[in-house]
Amino acid sequence: MDAPLPDSLSAAPPSPLAPTAAARTGPDPGRAGAAAPLIEAAGLTFTVRAASGPVNILRGVDLTVTAGEAVGLVGPSGSGKTSLLMLLAGLERPTGGALRIAGHDLAAMDEDALARFRREHIGIVFQAFHLIPTMTALENVAVPLEFAGRGDAFDRAAEALRSVGLAHRLEHYPGQLSGGEQQRVALARAVVAAPRLLLADEPTGNLDRATGAQVMELLFDLRARLGTTLLLVTHDAALAARCERQVRMEDGRIVGDDGGGGAAGEAVPGAE
Ligand SMILES: Nc1ncnc2c1ncn2[C@@H]1O[C@H](COP(=O)(O)OP(=O)(O)O)[C@@H](O)[C@H]1O
Ligand SMILES: [Mg+2]
Repeated sequence: MDAPLPDSLSAAPPSPLAPTAAARTGPDPGRAGAAAPLIEAAGLTFTVRAASGPVNILRGVDLTVTAGEAVGLVGPSGSGKTSLLMLLAGLERPTGGALRIAGHDLAAMDEDALARFRREHIGIVFQAFHLIPTMTALENVAVPLEFAGRGDAFDRAAEALRSVGLAHRLEHYPGQLSGGEQQRVALARAVVAAPRLLLADEPTGNLDRATGAQVMELLFDLRARLGTTLLLVTHDAALAARCERQVRMEDGRIVGDDGGGGAAGEAVPGAE
């Protein structure tokens, strides 16, 4: 698990990834919109239609996240954490408000542009792994790179799997892997294209405590080595506290944000 991250993982198109978290927190002149925050959400709303009428899931979320930050997102079940992650990933579209990620206005993008945006900028890990059961670990991790047309997809996928300690599981199918191994494959897939933003939604929720702790170590380790901005949804107060900033949601709104660094903003009471 402590194998050094291969060079090809820490240098991805369109511009080389800075080697350390510290290096990524400064301005990032190589990319469009680099001077702007990585996440800029203002007045974000998300309403879905249910049989009983409209459900206002997000009711005006304002959130700005600087490149390189690690943010722990906490809040009761049903408060809208997963929905917010889906919007940030470009997997759902906001009903209202403004959302820019890495300088891109997500509302202005068509489906193809959104798919490209996800490939280039977003890594996402879900509670339920979401691996493709008919593909080997290697194929699962190579998928995003193959879609991006990269000729070295399988080499890079193998390196990513090595970096999560799974060099010996490349040809295994998800059904032949333990839960912890499956989540490590999902982590490798999330970081293989060196995304600027890593989104993780209760990534240890389906794992036993010891395995969950290992996966979380790996997540923080990858994040530190890649310098990726991290938004981590978790019920675990201790894990949230490992992020330099904690944000709390309730009922579709942000009700607490310590702003990182401890000084500014409201305290975030009781991560569950
Ligand atoms: N497609 C949907 N249709 C109706 N209600 C939904 C839908 N998706 C989510 N919800 C509701 O929105 C609220 C927020 O859900 P979610 O974002 O999953 O919260 P969290 O991740 O904080 O538990 C919940 O009450 C949930 O039941
Ligand atoms: Mg959720």
